[in-house]
Amino acid sequence: MCGIVGYIGAGKTTEVLLDSLGRLEYRGYDSAGIALVCEDGLEVIKSAERIVKLREKVPSTLYASVGIGHTRWATHGKPSKTNAHPHQDCSGRIAVVHNGIIENYQEIKRALEKRGHVFTSETDTEVISHLVEENYVDNTLRAILATVPKLQGSFAFALINKDDPGHIYAARKDSPLVIGLGEGQYFLASDVTAFLKYTKRAVFMEDGDIAILSKDGVTFTDFHGREIKRKERVIEWDLEAAEKAGYDHFMLKEIHEQPKSLKDVISGRLNELSGEVELGEIGLTQDEINGIRRVIIVACGTSYHAGLVGKYALEMLTDIPVTVEIGSEFRYSSSRVGPGTLIVALSQSGETADTAASVREAIKKGAHVVAITNTVGSTIARDAGNTIYMRSGPEIGVAATKTFTSQVTVMYMMAIFLGRRRGMITAEKARILLSELKSLPKYAQSVLDQDSNVANVARLYAKANLFLFVGRHLNYPIALEGALKLKEISYIFSEGFAAGELKHGPLALLTTGVPVVAIATRSPTYEKMTSNIKEIKARDASVIAVASESDESIAQLVDVVIRVPDASELISPVLSSIVLQLFAYHVAVCAGCPVDKPRNLAKSVTVE
Ligand code: F6R
Repeated sequence: MCGIVGYIGAGKTTEVLLDSLGRLEYRGYDSAGIALVCEDGLEVIKSAERIVKLREKVPSTLYASVGIGHTRWATHGKPSKTNAHPHQDCSGRIAVVHNGIIENYQEIKRALEKRGHVFTSETDTEVISHLVEENYVDNTLRAILATVPKLQGSFAFALINKDDPGHIYAARKDSPLVIGLGEGQYFLASDVTAFLKYTKRAVFMEDGDIAILSKDGVTFTDFHGREIKRKERVIEWDLEAAEKAGYDHFMLKEIHEQPKSLKDVISGRLNELSGEVELGEIGLTQDEINGIRRVIIVACGTSYHAGLVGKYALEMLTDIPVTVEIGSEFRYSSSRVGPGTLIVALSQSGETADTAASVREAIKKGAHVVAITNTVGSTIARDAGNTIYMRSGPEIGVAATKTFTSQVTVMYMMAIFLGRRRGMITAEKARILLSELKSLPKYAQSVLDQDSNVANVARLYAKANLFLFVGRHLNYPIALEGALKLKEISYIFSEGFAAGELKHGPLALLTTGVPVVAIATRSPTYEKMTSNIKEIKARDASVIAVASESDESIAQLVDVVIRVPDASELISPVLSSIVLQLFAYHVAVCAGCPVDKPRNLAKSVTVE
């Protein structure tokens, strides 16, 4: 996830900026840069390597009292020095660093190019510098006020102007920014970790705020230029807690980031008016879409489970047969792959060796390959050629959480896209599905609001040494994922099953008190699930049900109920998966396990 820093004051500006950037390294980044207002004008220094390399490029004699900096996690355009921030305008007067996604940047860019602006990067950010340039006469704030209404999407940006050397300007909409208040010096960052070493006094900007930092203090306006007041707060966290935004573990922080990551993954991709999903990244012409004879989804681990959810969605919304293959199996199988086969490679890291090998194998056999990954410029993204990015920001906890729900969301968008293009769903049906997808972040938030409730349930069962997870249809892969999450971070043996399979073997495992997590939200298979629950209860096992808010009768059948909002057939599995992430997390905490770094596991499995 990108990081922004800014500094104005009498201190050593380059030193403060580089030190603050270093403190944002934990967020993950692929390139970094700073811009300074120096005596001779703007100095912009960038590197597509680590911050130590950026530091080597900064002359020790460089003096400035105002500067901004950025660590970039690529979303638009590959990781490179050119795409690294800060980005400038044509005149080289303005420099901007930005977090978030400008959804309408292509439209703005085209219009600016027509008016003679020359772009040097592939980023969405650069439109901000050129728009401010165009609106600037002699007042930077006025130019920013004229720019922000043109930007759709989410943004937090900081801007300096060589003709206005005593200020840093910052604007926020749906992406965090916080100001640090020192003595005669002021800081700006996307999270407090960046400046905690210098001050614990902070002002959190709110959506629609513009901050104007000078050596004399900080003032705020809204997007109409009206002055507003913001409250100062004293940060109690130490540095380590601040990196985790106050959460005890990265995994918990990442689980709680899902309303944002889900918003980012759909951002600019859903057109509710036309009922279309904008997914040109698939790289297929209409004729090629008509010619798809089968889809093979290839993935490992959690991504494989997202692929299984994708299979159900594709089969519900398109007429294409779908299979899901584990990377380590597919690469050595004799699956019929060739023209007419669409391979979808799912990998959050984009580096999983077995998935990468499968992609190469499929390309050799003439298939069209689309990668779904979180990592711009990764091996799988490069080899596949066609890539849909998940925009989840880096995931530091080894157990995949927010990337899973984003993968599922991309699979849903792909299913709607292909369903529409093959004439299998009407615009009206698509519009309903798109509005459901848009409600996902809000529903995810209401699941997260019950965190303490899930923690209480987890504490009740944390001493069990075996867990089963069951579900049907779309909830079957959610059960598999719930079991994987629990086993990998708590080391408790857990297994997921299709609920209909219980009587074909797993029932033998059930004795008094064995906990079974049953995903029993309202869906076409709900009645079948309640029969399975009765089957389980008849063996005296304990049932923890994940059920819909409005389901009053389920409580009589089971031992404990965890509620999720009433939501559609596609949305509710995503919500249940968030419940199971929280459940696994709290069980693991009770068991005293190192949640973020489970034994024997790695975040990126680059070996076979
Ligand atoms: C489990 C987990 C792993 C990964 C698997 C594939 O929480 O994270 O099972 O899902 O190693 O990784 P990617 O998605 O990077 O290909």
